[in-house]
Amino acid sequence: MIIRDFLKRIWLKLSPSYRVSKRIEAQVENLQNKIPFISDEIKSLETTINQKYEKNIQEYINSLNHCRHMYKRGRDEDIDNSIDYFRLSSLELMASKFKEEKTTGECAELGVFRGEFARLINKYFPDRILYLFDTFEGFDIRDTEFDDEKNYRKAIHDFSHTSVKSVLDKMPYPEKCIVKKGYFPESINDDILPEFCFVSIDVDLYKPIYSGLEFFYKKLVKGGVIFVHDYENCDYEGVKQAVKDFSKAYDISYFIMSDICGSAVFIK
Ligand SMILES: C[S@@+](CC[C@H](N)C(=O)[O-])C[C@H]1O[C@@H](n2cnc3c(N)ncnc32)[C@H](O)[C@@H]1O
Repeated sequence: MIIRDFLKRIWLKLSPSYRVSKRIEAQVENLQNKIPFISDEIKSLETTINQKYEKNIQEYINSLNHCRHMYKRGRDEDIDNSIDYFRLSSLELMASKFKEEKTTGECAELGVFRGEFARLINKYFPDRILYLFDTFEGFDIRDTEFDDEKNYRKAIHDFSHTSVKSVLDKMPYPEKCIVKKGYFPESINDDILPEFCFVSIDVDLYKPIYSGLEFFYKKLVKGGVIFVHDYENCDYEGVKQAVKDFSKAYDISYFIMSDICGSAVFIK
């Protein structure tokens, strides 16, 4: 009996599955021994990354503070927190330039949607009238058909979820806003509109951009500026085409701003 048990144990030890399980056990033990070292290494890596990151953040904050000092005025939170820093920052700098130089003229936005950019125009130009042109019902089929025929439009966006009230509610100076609801350029009607110093055109499609440029450029004061959003946006190729066609037809130059969608900028 004793001899049989002894032989059985020897046989078990020699079986492949026993040997495999022993090998795995040895590997686990080996790894367990290494874990403290691995976690130490991870911790030291973490510290290095954090130090490097903190250093970068600190350098960024220092340069921002330096810029604030150079500008002699604080950039507000809307600008600092915006992913489209250059667009907002340029708007604010234009506003302060016009104030400094006592440039006359009112402001307008063609293509307001929910008023995110219009809110900032209203904020940085508190003393000027802001004309808000939009259908407030999204794109018009007359414009979309044209862009679709030319294959300019590569994305479909719905801009119908807005209202005049919700837009005016977010304006810091709603008493300075005049809403021109309807299809542009029909919404101009026969109204006598003033001259403008700042106009934002943000309507995405060829026809309202071209007619917007034709209308507003004539109405700009000397030194006045038009931002045309989305010039480099490949979802709306009609923007670039309209800007180029207008520039060529009237022999008027423009430059491209390095904001997120590469706005085209006209200065009179
Ligand atoms: C991209 S959204 C404007 C975004 C806005 N500027 C902002 O800051 O969020 C485009 C707007 O242009 C308007 N729009 C497009 N074509 C128009 C036209 N022919 N007449 C009036 N509004 C138009 C649309 O209704 C839509 O609200």
